[in-house]
Amino acid sequence: MISVYPHLIDLNDYPVTWWNGLLTQAEDIMNRPFLYANSCNGKIMGTLFYEPSTRTQMSFQTAMLRLGGRIIGFDNPQTSSVAKGENLKDTTKIISSYSDVLVIRHPTVGAAKAAALTADCPVINAGDGGHLHPTQTLTDLLTLKAEKGTLSGLTIGVCGDLLNGRTVHSLCKAMSCYENNHFIMISTKELKMPSYIKDTIRAHGGTFEEVQNLEDAIPKLDVLYMTRIQRERFASPEEYEAQKDTYILTPQKMKSAKSDMIVLHPLPRVDEIQVAVDDDPRALYFKQAKYGMYVRMSLILTMLQSTIKTELLSGQVHKGISCKNPKCITNQESYLPKSFTGTGTTLTCEYCDERLLLEH
Ligand code: NCD
Repeated sequence: MISVYPHLIDLNDYPVTWWNGLLTQAEDIMNRPFLYANSCNGKIMGTLFYEPSTRTQMSFQTAMLRLGGRIIGFDNPQTSSVAKGENLKDTTKIISSYSDVLVIRHPTVGAAKAAALTADCPVINAGDGGHLHPTQTLTDLLTLKAEKGTLSGLTIGVCGDLLNGRTVHSLCKAMSCYENNHFIMISTKELKMPSYIKDTIRAHGGTFEEVQNLEDAIPKLDVLYMTRIQRERFASPEEYEAQKDTYILTPQKMKSAKSDMIVLHPLPRVDEIQVAVDDDPRALYFKQAKYGMYVRMSLILTMLQSTIKTELLSGQVHKGISCKNPKCITNQESYLPKSFTGTGTTLTCEYCDERLLLEH
């Protein structure tokens, strides 16, 4: 199924040259913001935030305002007709017909792709459940480019909730497309990186190791990307309690890090980085959040100017098979066409990337 609009659902739907162009434009916006102040005059961005957000939502809003455009939307679905039971398709269909570009965050995996299927303008995925977060990754790429001067040859530690953390999924998928990056995945065995992300890293030629100890890994790292344990994605409070506070970055641990290692975090922080670390010049997470505004300015401009058509569903639409992932949008919005890539007994859902092993 091909859409006539350029959507951003997964960064890896676009070639690395496209990301690089977007980053170069973001740098130009940082250096010469006055040149872009009226580039979106008369344009409207819709924001549908079905999940809490501070930075992503407000940096998108600021980005559009700084480009001269305007914004509509909700940040609490309970104040919209969603509270009356309206489905994703209808809300998206209408708000996209009011807007020139639509930004959506949703707690369910695959929701952005589902929204794009019926949208009347480009859709940007601002986080779909524990799946992907491509615009955080653009933020991270711009930060790495500006602060490390390169996107290649880095040893990157990702630490915390690697199972549910969508930011590290998108980050590892993207950084494995640049040469010679090595990932050290630091998590408990319960919160390990999903197999579909590790498969993608391998397919791109990236290398990784999985460890449980942060202290042992720190001296090897060029970048330490800390993440929050994603409380809202756990099945029970007990399971969350068992995982929280496992990894806490302290000034003491920073002593064994390289002098030019940088610490990133998509934020919000809970307690995985002690506040005392903020004074360390290597702690760049607040600066990182500001890069996010510039990269989103670049993204909005690109989406509004692009004539690229997006292939949303490339696989076979199956009538009799459902995705086995209970968190997949196809199991919440039953009208959606079920689509899988692959053949035989192994199929991959095109909304959530989970593999189904079918029994015949
Ligand atoms: C992240 C998210 O929403 O996935 N925040 C963000 O967008 N900057 C990280 C998180 O919530 O832990």
